[in-house]
Amino acid sequence: MTAELSPADKAKSVAANRAAEFVTDGMQVGLGTGSTAAWLVKRLGQRVRDEGLKIRGVPTSTRTAVQAREEGIEVITLDEAGWLDLTIDGADEFDSELSLIKGGGGAHLQEKIVARASDRMIVIADAAKKVATLGAFPLPVEVLGFGLKSTQKLIEAALADMDVGGRGTALRMTGDAPFVTDEGNHIIDLHLQRIGDAAALAVALNQVPGVVENGLFIEMCDLVIVGHADGAVDLHQVTQGAA
Ligand code: A5P
Repeated sequence: MTAELSPADKAKSVAANRAAEFVTDGMQVGLGTGSTAAWLVKRLGQRVRDEGLKIRGVPTSTRTAVQAREEGIEVITLDEAGWLDLTIDGADEFDSELSLIKGGGGAHLQEKIVARASDRMIVIADAAKKVATLGAFPLPVEVLGFGLKSTQKLIEAALADMDVGGRGTALRMTGDAPFVTDEGNHIIDLHLQRIGDAAALAVALNQVPGVVENGLFIEMCDLVIVGHADGAVDLHQVTQGAA
């Protein structure tokens, strides 16, 4: 029940519930990954069961696919969908331009592919995700296992020319083993503290052989819905700021 939720979960759930109102009959919807997106999948499942909402969902991770099926949402692949009406996902950080850092859960590769193949992307978040400048959250970069160490060195070399506040890199681990993504790759987290030019950094990172995709989402998000523990929501758009 809502009364038993922690303040953080309440904030995430109200943002997710507001975002779910943008979903209408017949839509093909990209389903994000993470603790906030899980609230969205739960709410859409409720709407499918209670209102007979007819949607087809494209999950951005194995775990979201499992949850969506459990909730009774019809799950299809992106190739089966062809194109999506809307993607709703969480984020690790967003700024006033609605540029994002994503991938804290290691799913940003599929998340970016799905968001790019959508007419519209809505991000759902709690207020802690809003930042003046991206970069306090470590930037995830998905890399191939082949040549991992040389890829990491080349990323570090690329960072030397970038306007960033720090240049530390770390292979993401699960216990004693490198974290493995849904695509069988690994993640190098970049501890940058401040990203001066996110667009330039995104291009530079993706030019390194062995890099599959970085976690910067630039000019992809159309709307951020921020939920608060008191049940309020703020809508953030690029041109209008907080509404
Ligand atoms: C998954 O890889 C991420 O991009 C998530 O969308 C992001 O980490 C937000 O997750 P939370 O909603 O759990 O904070």
